[in-house]
Amino acid sequence: MRLFHEAARVAFTDLRSSLSKLEEEPSLQNVRDLEAIFNDFMRSTAIHKNHEDKALYPALSASIHTRMAHKNYTPSLELLVNGLTEIPSFSEEHKEDHEAVARMQSLLQTLKTNVSSKEADADTVRASLGELTQEVTGWITFHEEHLQHEEKVMSPLMKGIASTLHMKVAIARTLLIVDRQGTISTQFPFVLSKLLRVKDWFCPMTKHKYSNLEILVVYINCFRMMMDNEKDYAVIVNIAKQIMSKEQWKEIQAYGLGTVK
Ligand SMILES: [Fe+2]
Repeated sequence: MRLFHEAARVAFTDLRSSLSKLEEEPSLQNVRDLEAIFNDFMRSTAIHKNHEDKALYPALSASIHTRMAHKNYTPSLELLVNGLTEIPSFSEEHKEDHEAVARMQSLLQTLKTNVSSKEADADTVRASLGELTQEVTGWITFHEEHLQHEEKVMSPLMKGIASTLHMKVAIARTLLIVDRQGTISTQFPFVLSKLLRVKDWFCPMTKHKYSNLEILVVYINCFRMMMDNEKDYAVIVNIAKQIMSKEQWKEIQAYGLGTVK
């Protein structure tokens, strides 16, 4: 879940560079390239927001209530109370996010129409490109802040979300209940391909620094635990093998990730 945020940070750079390429040369090909990156990113972001709204936030809120009922004020009473007031604001931000995505989609279509049209002059194309650039740039800033907002509130609270690994896995599995197909065939390859480009990552929760492929080990292992049988995990392995090089997959296998058990 948390690693989606890191993947999104890589995707922000792709979106930015695709946008500046388009500004340099507003060709139909460049519009199509931006559209592909944008759609890919938005599909996975939509799944992520769904995971949070329908699975993670309810689980985290429930765990805060349990902690308070048992007078277990981990990490602190103040942070628990703050969590309960902040969590609903994340879903509100998701709604705003949703509206921004719809505006970007429509501006992208307008630009595509203008670039393809023989009647539209260069000024019209420039004007629609300007509007799209402004909207996308604004969204990136908004979404970056949204991710930081969630991390600031949720990171200290996530540690106590479950008392056993078994319970943690059970919570993780609810993500698959929310959207199994989308999680496995759309979000998993998206996140994996982006994380391949992350060199080092410091996890604020475990205080551990992950280097090179270790971040992928963590991510793939989450799916390994979520999949309870060899057949389902084979789907994950096949996707990973398509994205990674033979050498990279060999390295991953050395961590025992080749099979479920
Ligand atoms: Fe979110």
